[in-house]
Amino acid sequence: MLAQSVDPILLEQLKKLQDKYAVMGQDLSSYLDGLLYADYLTYWDYIHVDTLLSLQNPKTQFPDEQVFIVYHQITELYFKLILTEIEQIAQKKDLTKTFFEARLKRMIRYFQQLENSFDIMVDGMEREQFLKFRMSLLPASGFQSAQYRMIEICSTPLFNLVAEEERKNIKPESLIDELIENIYWRFGATELASGKKTLTLKQFEEKYLQTFIKLGQDYASTNLYTIYLSNFAHEKDENLMNLMRQYDLLANVKWRMAHLRSAGKYLQKSPEDIKATGGTNWQKYLPPRFQRIMFFPDLWSNEERENWGRHV
Ligand code: HEM
Repeated sequence: MLAQSVDPILLEQLKKLQDKYAVMGQDLSSYLDGLLYADYLTYWDYIHVDTLLSLQNPKTQFPDEQVFIVYHQITELYFKLILTEIEQIAQKKDLTKTFFEARLKRMIRYFQQLENSFDIMVDGMEREQFLKFRMSLLPASGFQSAQYRMIEICSTPLFNLVAEEERKNIKPESLIDELIENIYWRFGATELASGKKTLTLKQFEEKYLQTFIKLGQDYASTNLYTIYLSNFAHEKDENLMNLMRQYDLLANVKWRMAHLRSAGKYLQKSPEDIKATGGTNWQKYLPPRFQRIMFFPDLWSNEERENWGRHV
């Protein structure tokens, strides 16, 4: 009999597969036919290498523009991983501290990679080339990275992202629309001369504002800080508090300082600095000591909050 010559483990697997497909009203046999005819998976198909390598489309002939594009793309992929970890925490049923900590450590690792690799921008391009090809990129700016804003929205209640000077006029429990209306980066992107919204900001809002409002609603009670406060804060676990602080510092001071060094390297010029492609007053906008954005304010002492972004 055929069944006797078939490995019993295989039979057991077939049985399980049959049950799995039966639940969905599917016929396993047809799927097995599909398996018979299907090609073996290859690395290049699985990783989509060709597609990936076709996504760099410089606007100019300057070779260093490749470095600029690829590094932005690498950063966006790390941002994607960070968001995936936050999402896992937010959606986890029966969340444990072990799970929370493990994901937080991953997020820290991703941000550390980004901080440590920023020299690719700072030292890895010729300034002369950069200053030329950037003129072809107007008015695009990293300011328009939606994933960066999403990381912020998923990490803390929106009130902590409201521009500091506006916080006294707004309550933490205000409507999402009002909180987003006053989010810090909307104030940053004003034209140097006229004080009007920059085109960079207008286009960004047009494309993403509704997404951000929806995300703010979705994460109102499942953002990282709120989850920490409602599940783990009462334990006062020093180890976890340190991880939280490490993440806050990486996202809001260290990454920003590494990024600022690239702006300094390329845009600082005597007697007058070079304008940013996004048109912000970048010297007053980018240094973390001015915006003083922190995800987990209560995990810092008054002195640490006062001196935010000053000692890195
Ligand atoms: C030579 C490299 C870079 C320079 C000179 C530079 C310059 C700037 C400037 C001047 C701003 C302020 C907005 C504006 O007016 O345009 C800005 C914002 C920003 N850039 Fe870059 N940038 C560089 C690389 C990057 C990279 C690789 C990323 C990764 C995605 C990035 C992400 C951002 C983000 C998220 C903001 C908004 C920061 C905030 O709102 O606090 N930048 N950048």
